Amino acid sequence: MSTDTHKLWGGRFAGGPSPLLDALNRSIGTDFRLWPHDVRLSKAWARALGEGGVLTIAEAVALQHGLDRVGARLAEGALPVATDEDIHTMIDRLLHEEAGSVASKLHTGRSRNDQVATASRLWTMEACHQLDDAVRVLQAALLTQAETLVDTILPAYTHLQRAQPVSGTHWLLAHFWPLTRDRTRLAAAARCAGVLPLGSGAIAGSAFPVSRESLRESLGFTSISPNSIDATGDRDFVAETLFACAMIAAHCSRLAEDMIVYGTSEFGFVKFGDGFSTGSSMMPQKRNPDVFELARGSGARVLGDLVSLMGAIKGLPSGYSKDLQDDKRAMFNAIDMLLLVLPAVAGAVAELRFDTKRMRAAVSSAMMATDLADYLVRRGATFREAHGAVGVLVRAAEEAGIELDALPAERFAAAHALFGEDARAALSAEASIAARDIAGGTGPNAVAAQLVQARQSLQAM
Ligand code: ARG
Repeated sequence: MSTDTHKLWGGRFAGGPSPLLDALNRSIGTDFRLWPHDVRLSKAWARALGEGGVLTIAEAVALQHGLDRVGARLAEGALPVATDEDIHTMIDRLLHEEAGSVASKLHTGRSRNDQVATASRLWTMEACHQLDDAVRVLQAALLTQAETLVDTILPAYTHLQRAQPVSGTHWLLAHFWPLTRDRTRLAAAARCAGVLPLGSGAIAGSAFPVSRESLRESLGFTSISPNSIDATGDRDFVAETLFACAMIAAHCSRLAEDMIVYGTSEFGFVKFGDGFSTGSSMMPQKRNPDVFELARGSGARVLGDLVSLMGAIKGLPSGYSKDLQDDKRAMFNAIDMLLLVLPAVAGAVAELRFDTKRMRAAVSSAMMATDLADYLVRRGATFREAHGAVGVLVRAAEEAGIELDALPAERFAAAHALFGEDARAALSAEASIAARDIAGGTGPNAVAAQLVQARQSLQAM
């Protein structure tokens, strides 16, 4: 076999494939990066063939040494040639060059169908761990900033309308916990990938006595697939990884949106650092939060990867179909994207400076209207009745163009008989926050406990 005609199939065809098919079929541009995993699983397969007596020990050893040399050549930058259909073909070609004709025995009892599924699973397990590290770095940046905001207050928003005052720490940690859930999802996706397909052959299982249990053990899988048809056509692990990615991207996007909005001159709660903002070619005054905008935008691409994978698998018959080749493009895309986005967002978060005076100044007394109603409830009114009375006061303040706490005492007395002298004290933001010391609330003890919990969650996983 010459270098430029090396193929893993073709004997049954009289004519060669059309260049048009070649162009469409070739996946090495995408799957080249699987090579370390493909070399590793091929070595394990060679050893298993030797142990099973399918090959002599000398042949198995020759294959393993040949694969080591192939790995070394790839690590040194060996590049595909025009006829390398995919990375499996390329490695087979290189193995023929390194080990000679014994290379033809490696594919005994194996198919690219169980091979690619195995290599992809090995890649996915590693990628999930890498992604977990990147998420953790972002969480650490959020936590470090959150720790500096313990004594700060800002409005929390519902419908992006001022709702109630909260501590700055509480707000920032609202972006920490979704990432903890993402890490749980990544761990689950890695577990899903940890099932060994090798030994399934093309679809019906290998006809040679190879120990799948020792393959499982040497390749670091947690179990072996129970059904060869399922094992060669199953891409659930890709879907689960992509879902975890899409959620990470969505969470980065929401975090980014808060920063973009709070960084406008109108809000002015946060300033972006020099390392992570860009200027304008025309407007000299501009400082743009590009990192956060790119993070927000990347969410669409990652979601697209999940949707395209789901679309590819939903109508497939059982077993392998070539549609599945596209799984890797979707997954590599999403993970590459996040491995760019997460560190950049972490860097941008670490450089944020908070204008705590602006944050505090944005809290208006109307935001404590609920506290005023709670005051009446503590004095015996029903919440509904209290809600109505405070509503009257809010309207009066709005009509007079003044803050709620600037209304004269008589207006309070007129709105509800249970309002006393101390009613206006209920309109303090500090009191509002202090009252919410329930677990998970924004009260000072609850937030201190939350910080401890957040620190522990970063160490635990
Ligand atoms: N490049 C292929 C893929 O990524 C490898 C499997 C090819 N299998 C086949 N039956 N042609 O899916």
